[in-house]
Amino acid sequence: MTIDELFSAASIIPVLTVNNRTDAAPLADALASGGLRVIEMTLRSSDALSILADMKAARPDLIIGMGTVRTPGDVEGAIDAGADFLVSPGLTPALIPALTTAWQSAGIPSLPGIATVSEAMSACELGFTGLKFFPAEPAGGLSYLKALYGPLPDLRFCPTGGISAERAPDYLSLPNVSCVGGSWIAPTGLIETADWQAISVNAQTASALGSSQTKTV
Ligand code: 3PG
Repeated sequence: MTIDELFSAASIIPVLTVNNRTDAAPLADALASGGLRVIEMTLRSSDALSILADMKAARPDLIIGMGTVRTPGDVEGAIDAGADFLVSPGLTPALIPALTTAWQSAGIPSLPGIATVSEAMSACELGFTGLKFFPAEPAGGLSYLKALYGPLPDLRFCPTGGISAERAPDYLSLPNVSCVGGSWIAPTGLIETADWQAISVNAQTASALGSSQTKTV
């Protein structure tokens, strides 16, 4: 899967932190029944790798990425668990060759995180043209991304961090935003209380947001 194929499958990507393996299948079902196809599982719980594998087994139709990837070891673990793509909060000297190899040897694309113009330019020089803009709201939000389009019109972003259902449409209307990530669709509280109905409704709303967007330059 290329980064463009990933972007065309998703307008909204739920960012998940899941602690219990028993939640994997019902959570995947709830998100899929709401119409979402792409999910980011963060490496923020001790069982995250197994939970990603459980979700893939339960719903092979979903595209599931591993997020919060910070080290070459994380990259290896995520690939072994069956991640379809990788997301990192930033880009470090150790991570660069690991992410590049994941793409060149296993065809697994990455969304490395950037928060400044120079970081975006460096990532682009390394061949990463789809980037996570993180943490989106604290790092300048909508107006910052809008300003990046002038000098860097070839880059595409997935802003994440502090974005709500209400703010997401404004981000999606930007020409350089391909998708938006956030934990609001399936916050840990709803997962812990097994409120699959509420998650499915949130997913439905998110998926409708994605399909009703028009880009403005
Ligand atoms: C991420 O890792 O992408 C973010 O922590 C998700 O951000 P949010 O919880 O503010 O949506």
